[in-house]
Amino acid sequence: MRATLKDSFGRTIRDLRISVTDRCNFRCFYCLPHGEPPIAPKDRMLSYEEIELAAELFVSLGIEKIRLTGGEPMMRRDIETLVEKLARLRTRGLRDLAMTTNGYFLPARAASLKRAGLDRITISLDSLRRENFQRITGTDALARVLEGIDAAKRAGLRPIKINAVIVRGYNETEVADLAAFAREHDLIMRFIEFMPLDAAYHWSRDKVVSGREIRERIEGRFPLVPIEEERGSNTAVRYRFADGAPGEIGIIAPVTEPFCGACSRIRLTADGQIRTCLFSTVEYSLRDVIRSGATRDEIIEFICRVVTKKEAGHRINEPDFTPPSRTMSFIGG
Ligand code: GTP
Ligand code: 5AD
Ligand code: SF4
Repeated sequence: MRATLKDSFGRTIRDLRISVTDRCNFRCFYCLPHGEPPIAPKDRMLSYEEIELAAELFVSLGIEKIRLTGGEPMMRRDIETLVEKLARLRTRGLRDLAMTTNGYFLPARAASLKRAGLDRITISLDSLRRENFQRITGTDALARVLEGIDAAKRAGLRPIKINAVIVRGYNETEVADLAAFAREHDLIMRFIEFMPLDAAYHWSRDKVVSGREIRERIEGRFPLVPIEEERGSNTAVRYRFADGAPGEIGIIAPVTEPFCGACSRIRLTADGQIRTCLFSTVEYSLRDVIRSGATRDEIIEFICRVVTKKEAGHRINEPDFTPPSRTMSFIGG
């Protein structure tokens, strides 16, 4: 039997999110810091071999899901090679290999990612209006991302999930249109509350559109029915359309309805730091441990020790909340 990783609150950690690069070709205001983002020097980044070793050890400890994030994962050269290496961990107990991407490179690469062994993909899409898309992402690339979604479908990277971060004053009036898009294209459309992960440059409570308001905006046009299931460690509460139309809605409300109590996630940054929470203020350098020539058992012991430090949850709603010093582009979504 495989080991399991448990934190000090009894939560089992089954989900590893690996940021493979802090670079991105987009400039989404809710994710990147102001100005040109500082980029970690190359020798501080984990190599594919180091990521593979870390992933293998995590899987031996009970990790079942790996999600590659960034930055934009496809900004890292030949990411298919890493996907291929990680896909081999299926024989060791990995059940699900996914990626979160802005979609820009998918027209050319969806098929090669699938061939390399990627199971499924999540694509960010915050607006269906060209100018608004550009305002949010800093990039005039709506048409290209829509092509990317098509390419992912054709390649069979299913189920395809679409992430839309809803921010007041930017895209709250597009919520129902995005739901219509999910129906038309048979997609899982997830609406996400804006979190303070942009080094507090843009976030303020009045910009948060609550999950409840999002649901009301959708139901103004398309009545929804909750999907009966155990929530487990899922980030999203799921709904189907009451009229039986294709597609699905997920509402992710980490600010107004935190789901930390059932969290199963741990993160590895592109420069090899373990983060026990999206909002951690401390990081643990797995890179230094690996590069010190530690044995596999020593690395495993380090990981187990770090997991016991996992926080009970985020403190966004506490008066003393301080956002993490690294923004989402470093931490990985
Ligand atoms: P799957 O269940 O594997 O499909 O992944 P997921 O539901 O975690 O989806 P995804 O990785 O696309 O995450 C969706 C969004 O939820 C992210 O972009 C974040 O905004 C948010 N999110 C993901 N994980 C966490 C988390 O641990 N804490 C908080 N507060 N938000 C999270
Ligand atoms: N709040 C909520 N979600 C965010 N993401 C990035 N920044 C934020 C934020 N401040 C999510 C988006 C994107 C993924 C990579 O991370 O959903 O799709
Ligand atoms: Fe888990 Fe931290 Fe996210 Fe809460 S905020 S769900 S504890 S990673």
